[in-house]
Order: sequence, then structure tokens, then C-alpha cells
Amino acid sequence: MSSLIQKSLKKTRPIWLMRQAGRYLPEYQKIRKKQKNFINFCLNIHDATEVTLQPVKRYNLDAAIIFSDILVIPYALGQEVNFKENIGPVLGDFKIENFKKIKEKEFINKIKNVYLAIKKTRKKLNRNKTLIGFAGSPWTILVYIINKQSPKKNKIYKEILKDKKHIKQLLKIIEKFIIIHIKEQIKAGADTIQLFDSWAGLLKQEDLNFFCFQPTKRIIKKIKQQYPRISIICFPKGIGEQISKFCKIVKPDVLNIDSKINPDFVNKKINKNIIIQGGMDPKFLLAKTKMLKKKAEFYLKKFKNRNYIFNLGHGVAKETKPNAVQDLVNIVKAFK
Ligand code: CP3
Repeated sequence: MSSLIQKSLKKTRPIWLMRQAGRYLPEYQKIRKKQKNFINFCLNIHDATEVTLQPVKRYNLDAAIIFSDILVIPYALGQEVNFKENIGPVLGDFKIENFKKIKEKEFINKIKNVYLAIKKTRKKLNRNKTLIGFAGSPWTILVYIINKQSPKKNKIYKEILKDKKHIKQLLKIIEKFIIIHIKEQIKAGADTIQLFDSWAGLLKQEDLNFFCFQPTKRIIKKIKQQYPRISIICFPKGIGEQISKFCKIVKPDVLNIDSKINPDFVNKKINKNIIIQGGMDPKFLLAKTKMLKKKAEFYLKKFKNRNYIFNLGHGVAKETKPNAVQDLVNIVKAFK
């Protein structure tokens, strides 16, 4: 059991934040400036380690999440990945035939610096802190591979319905490499894994099982077979009350909830042996401290009677003032 999970049972709640390392931190900006290409930045062992540790040092958070991106998977499969100011990620063309030819060793070698950064971070990180590795879930990676940028609602559906057989093959390949990527991160020293299904909310209800629940369930099964002590956090973002079905089928160790989920629904429908993480809208980090306290304590109170890891309903916004994060950490640690 990772230290994060152990601490989730205690009165003083553990806290870490999605995108805790990032553009809102001046010390991040300073290192980020040196490298124009974002993937190369992620693959710089020294910089990735340094940036991973920055928020943990500044705020004494309970976990570090390795600084990388979910899009290192398409990158390692040979698809071009660029990040453009104001657009976000822009991917190149791909051929499924090329993906099929990629050998496990080749894939690992292309992003081995992610694993080396994990190794280095683990050495520098205090033993009582968790080191989180992560991957995108198959559906979300599929969305980026096909759509080549963050999707606008519905457009992706037409693409998928165009050639179901092709999509099924692609999904299988992605699933295989996600498992490889996760296992390498565990071997390097990650003790907890978070699976981001950021675009699960695009799926129609009748497609959730095939594209989201079942692939995630298979990944967890494969990881747990080999590494039964690794904890897995799932974040199927935007699926609303379908989280209840998600939990029944997938059985994650931890469920991260987005800000649209009602905590009362969670308490009623999600089995107590599943730990809850997150929930608070990151926009409250831009509000006055009084409001921030009210909103943070709302979640702390609602989940008082179950295991809870404080986090957000999505990543820290780049407009966030570093002091607001400090206020939030103080609020969470003071709450009893
Ligand atoms: O601190 C952490 O959370 C760890 C690092 C991390 C990053 N991306 C760094 C990053 C993690 C866990 C991710 C996950 C990720 N990446 C997701 C899933 C979570 C989510 O946000 O829904 C997704 C969809 C991506 C793809 C991605 N990467 C997008 C859409 C963008 C551009 C949007 C943006 O915020 O600029 C990125 C770039 C990115 N990944 C940045 C960071 C810190 C900003 C890039 C920069 O510094 O210029």
C-alpha cells in the first residue's frame, strides 16, 4: 500500500494536485524557458526530475507525480507530437501499419528517459512520499491519435463510426502499449498509477462500456497480476453518474471525481472500500481565500466518513497564484 493510500485513512487528509508542477510556478517557468519543445522537455531527465520535485518542496505535498505527458505514448509509437501556444497538442499523421510494427523494446527505448526520471526522482524524494506514475486511458489516447488535437464535441464520433474494425485494432494496440508504459514506470519506482480518461465524457452512454470500462478493467487486471501492491487511481472525467457503473465494473483502488459530481451521490453509490480523490473545481484557487476555504471544507466535510485524498476536479490553472496553493494546503492540513 502506498503512503498516499495509508494517509487517506487518517484524519489529516493527504493532498496533492493534478498539474501541481506547471506554468503557475515561477520556478517551473524558469526551467521551462530553456526548452522550446515540450516533449524534449519531458524527456530531459534532469529537468523532469527537478520540475517534479518543485511543488513537493514548496508545499510539502504528500505525493509527487512524475513530470511527463499522456502524449508520450503516441510519440513513442512514432506519431509526431507538438505543443502550440493557445492550441495545445497538435499531432501528425499516423498509419496503423506502422504502429503494428513497433516492437516493445523500441517503444521503451524512445521514452526511457521518463523511466530514468522516475528512478532519479525516487532517490531524491522522501520515503514517506508517494511517487505517482501515469498514463492516458485507451479512449483518451485514441481520441488524440485520431483527432490529432484536443477534440471538440461530437466530431470524433463520426470518425469512429467510419471504420469500426480499424478503431478496434487501434484500441488494442494502444492498450498494449499503455500496459508496457505503466509497467516500466513501476519498475522504475512509481508506487501508484493514475489513469487519465480526460475525454470519457465524450462517449455516449451505450459506448462507455466498450471504450472506457472494459479497456480500463483489463489494464488494471494485467497490472495487478504482476504488481498486486501497486495502487491505481482512475479518473474517468465527465461521465457523471456513470461513475457508479464504472466502479462496479472496473473496481479502482481510488476514484478521482470531477467538479460536476455530487459528493452525496458518491457517498450513496460508491462502495466505501473505494477511496475518493479530488472534486473541487480548480477555479476556486483563483477566488478569495474565504471562498477557497469554504469550497475545500465542503469536500472535506462530505467525505469525512470515508478515505479521502484531497485533490481537484481537474488540473491547476496556469493563472493560479502560488500563494493560493499554499493557502489550500494549509486549509486541508488544518481541517479536523
Ligand atoms: O503535474 C502533473 O500533473 C504531471 C504532469 C502532467 C502533464 N500533463 C504536464 C503538462 C500530466 C499528468 C499531464 C496529463 C495530461 N496531458 C492530460 C490528462 C489530464 C488532463 O489535463 O485532462 C492530457 C489531456 C494531456 C494532454 C495535454 N498536455 C494538453 C491538452 C496540454 C495543453 C494544455 C495546457 O494545459 O497547456 C498539455 C501540455 C502540458 N502537459 C503542460 C504541462 C505542464 C503545459 C505545457 C507547457 O508548460 O508549456
